[in-house]
Amino acid sequence: IITQALAEQGYAIYNNFLPSDTITALAEYAQRQQLQGKLKPATTGQQADLLMESRIRGDSIMWLGKDSPVSCVQAYLDKMQVFKQELNRQLFLNLHELEAHFAIYPPGTGYARHLDQFNQGENSTRQVSCVLYLNDGWLNDFGGQLRLYLADGSTMDIPPLGGTLVTFLSGDFYHEVLPANRQRISLTGWFRRRDNRLI
Ligand code: OGA
Ligand code: MN
Repeated sequence: IITQALAEQGYAIYNNFLPSDTITALAEYAQRQQLQGKLKPATTGQQADLLMESRIRGDSIMWLGKDSPVSCVQAYLDKMQVFKQELNRQLFLNLHELEAHFAIYPPGTGYARHLDQFNQGENSTRQVSCVLYLNDGWLNDFGGQLRLYLADGSTMDIPPLGGTLVTFLSGDFYHEVLPANRQRISLTGWFRRRDNRLI
């Protein structure tokens, strides 16, 4: 895994990050979990009011737990482990923990412009955001792009096509999810830095 683009630009996009059968299995797993009521409306942690929340982000999420994962989730975790080692080796990031959740956005919902770091400067906070899309055959007409706000004031819209991994330095890039006209599924992970206070 080449992490040079991430080092130079602060963000990078990888196509076919995982084999397409794994992407399909992950999407089907997320949808099965949703049918079983395992996905919950997301909250940003900043607003208590649910109605307000739903205007900020409209997705439902399920965090990956510690219990033994199904094989497609294990394949994702294995790949993220390799990716983490590359990031640590090539970018000297000292990343440690991965936290990740499935997210399903119903048609017409998005996620307003935000930053993934809530407590700026905290050593243990999110360092690298990694969004993996699980939508086979996604067309541009469907909408649902991830809009990245770049340092030069321009924006970049990335369609959530199955197998695409978008990764960026969590503290450096505001971003938003544009509404789609159909269901939009992703698996988002954040690498945290080792918390020195716990060592
Ligand atoms: C997030 C997020 C982007 C996406 O969950 O914090 O920004 O494209 N997701 O799903
Ligand atoms: Mn985000």
